[in-house]
Amino acid sequence: MTGNDPLVLGIETSCDETGVGIVQGTTLLADAVASSVDEHARFGGVVPEVASRAHLEAMTPTVARAIKEAGVTLADIDAFAVTGGPGLMGALLVGVAAAKAYALTFDRPLYGVNHLAAHVAVDRLEHGALPQPAIALLVSGGHSSLLMVNDITRDVSPLGATIDDAAGEAFDKVARLLGFPFPGGPHIDRVAREGSADAIAFPRGLTAQHDLEQHRYDFSFSGLKTSVARWVETKERAGEKVPTADVAASFQEAVVDVLARKAVAACKEQGVDHLLLGGGVAANSRLRAELEQRCSDQHIELRVPRPELCTDNGAMVAALGAALVEAGRAASDLSFPAVSGLTVSEVVIP
Ligand code: KG4
Ligand code: ZN
Repeated sequence: MTGNDPLVLGIETSCDETGVGIVQGTTLLADAVASSVDEHARFGGVVPEVASRAHLEAMTPTVARAIKEAGVTLADIDAFAVTGGPGLMGALLVGVAAAKAYALTFDRPLYGVNHLAAHVAVDRLEHGALPQPAIALLVSGGHSSLLMVNDITRDVSPLGATIDDAAGEAFDKVARLLGFPFPGGPHIDRVAREGSADAIAFPRGLTAQHDLEQHRYDFSFSGLKTSVARWVETKERAGEKVPTADVAASFQEAVVDVLARKAVAACKEQGVDHLLLGGGVAANSRLRAELEQRCSDQHIELRVPRPELCTDNGAMVAALGAALVEAGRAASDLSFPAVSGLTVSEVVIP
């Protein structure tokens, strides 16, 4: 960090986390997050209306917390950034409206940025400037994407994505089936350690030759989830005890195998030797271990930000904002809309 690096405040409200981060260049000064995850637990997934209301209540206190943590004032901020999409419309609107109010009040530029690009940019805070080109594997409750990142400020393109459930969603649904609370990913990760990963041969979605032709870098986890459900039902109907740890380990292995296989194949086939992992599922111990192994075998450098930067937060939005300011990119027009289905190639909403 130098005294000349821009001070950027980022706001994230695309799902159930109200995040406010402050960065100076590539240095993280504050990362305040308020999560409404407990309010969604009894529904087994994020309820958009509940999330929006929670964002409204948490927004001002979370900004205050970040400002205090960074030891700055709002008037010191050089630029604001906010997630403009993709995400839940009602949730996005709360962050976008708040960010516009701050930008207008303090007469500073505002960048309405892409949530997925922000998941990639956050690694600047952990490991410094991004190696480019890089391939990013983003896996969370809301997204599962493979991205080609040529320039994080203006050239990001999709290689593939899930055609049905997100990877985290599959973890959450299977966890629910096995009787664990939402979000279930960490529970599966934990109990899988007691089980055998090859106890049950669950399907690897979109890896057959004919699927690869059309969906080389795409994912599908819905068939896997159904297959786990059928397997468990059959056991229960027969009055047999469900071997929870084996089911969890075998299911997790199927997800990890497909994610790692496709990410490494993308790097090799596209001639890229840097892979970046992000999103809540990046916390999965088996996924990290498997990717480390396969990347090291293939001479690919794997970069994984620490877990609290992998899940949704405001620091990632601020990190992308700082990269945009540094690159001299134009800020958004203050009338820009929140775009629920924003495509990843749009890094900034004009
Ligand atoms: O990025 P995130 O906090 O929020 C969004 O979904 O955008 O990701 C949350 C997701 C949940 O589906 C959760 O079950 C999953 O990440 N997750 C995990 C682990 N920790 C969190 N999945 C597998 N293993 C974990 N250790
Ligand atoms: Zn996310």
